[in-house]
Amino acid sequence: MVMVTPTTDRAAPAPHGPLPTAWAEDFDIYDPSYLADPYSVWREMRQTCPVARTERHGGGYLPSTYADITWIALHPESFSSRAGEVAGPVPEVGRELKLPPVTSDPPDHAADRRLLVPLFTKPAIARYEDLTRATANSLIDGFKDRSEVDGANEYARDIPVVVTSRMLGLPLEDTERFHEWTVRMLKEGAEDYGVRAGAVHDIHNYFTQLVASRAVAPDSGVFSYLLAMQAADPSLTDERIVGMSFLMLIAGIDTTWSALGAILWHLATHPDDRRALVADPGLIPAAVEESLRMYAPVTIGRVATEDVNIGECPVRQGERVVLAWGAANHDPEVFDQPDTFVVDRERNRHLAFGVGIHRCLGAHLAQMELRISLEEWLNRIPDFELVPGSEISWTAGNTRGPKALPLLLHL
Ligand code: HEM
Repeated sequence: MVMVTPTTDRAAPAPHGPLPTAWAEDFDIYDPSYLADPYSVWREMRQTCPVARTERHGGGYLPSTYADITWIALHPESFSSRAGEVAGPVPEVGRELKLPPVTSDPPDHAADRRLLVPLFTKPAIARYEDLTRATANSLIDGFKDRSEVDGANEYARDIPVVVTSRMLGLPLEDTERFHEWTVRMLKEGAEDYGVRAGAVHDIHNYFTQLVASRAVAPDSGVFSYLLAMQAADPSLTDERIVGMSFLMLIAGIDTTWSALGAILWHLATHPDDRRALVADPGLIPAAVEESLRMYAPVTIGRVATEDVNIGECPVRQGERVVLAWGAANHDPEVFDQPDTFVVDRERNRHLAFGVGIHRCLGAHLAQMELRISLEEWLNRIPDFELVPGSEISWTAGNTRGPKALPLLLHL
């Protein structure tokens, strides 16, 4: 298939021919044309087959309307979160990777989530603002004398890893390992299940050892907080703590990295929007939300717990349903000009952070990191563009973001 440039200009998207029926009957979320331009695919699916099906990569269904995606997320009794992978065989019950609360279903989910809520309140998040700003500036200091930088791997990647490590009380000297694991698990592992299994093993071992060491030598970090809760709640086993920490590491790094890479890509390719933000930094929070709407990085799986209909489409017990939150965010039933980046969009009820009981706990943290990273970048590098001739490719699987982002800096 031909590579298509994402239709994100202010102008109306270019007309395109009918989608091959193959997309509706056999969609492929790893197809390069889907990765480059999922918006056209979702638009066509909504018009021709709003719940598409595939036998590829373990099989599954992909709903493309805001209404269906929301309805599924609001019915955890029919759509279990026990396996969030979007590809590969659906694991048997009991053999899943447990990452509470994201893989927990009711009634366990509420208790798992309640334990983590205090870590993510607005005052708790505010404690990491200075660190985020300092990290952004020291990264910029490191490359400001060069004319080119990889915005994805030399900036977007490093801010979330530092902030998440601090939040979890992890040694900063281990950040390279965290990068490597996240890449192996969510990016390379999305297509190679052996690589994914190896990363899961390594992360699991790391946290198991860390929990054991914090049990004998408590500190003021998250592990010691969770271990202290064990006294009041014996069901909070070390294994559950390891799963929660594992989740916060991967949920905190890869998502924000992808989202920040996508914003920088957008501003590098849409100079009017970049100039608008430089002229009025007060627009940055709205632009962050609009970028999350346009380029929602997360896609996550559900497993049907019973035979159930999504709209007219029957789904059988045990089958996978893929929730591409970005598809909901481009539904014209809910958003005016859904494929256009409106830098100051006012009403923006996007689903980049999901909806329902699993709505992202780290949303405030991510919004803060994205806002500050962008404020500092635009303050110091107001003028930049893609290195001419560079082709951007996007990661597949649970998260979508630019793999690399060669930027030319006009300092
Ligand atoms: C732009 C960045 C982010 C995006 C787009 C994002 C997106 C999401 C989405 C869509 C969900 C819902 C999954 C579902 O319904 O199954 C989710 C859940 C979650 N996210 Fe995020 N996330 C981001 C950043 C973060 C950060 C920085 C953290 C923390 C360090 C975090 C922690 C979590 C947790 C703990 C859950 C599970 C909540 C639950 O199951 O109750 N996320 N995220």
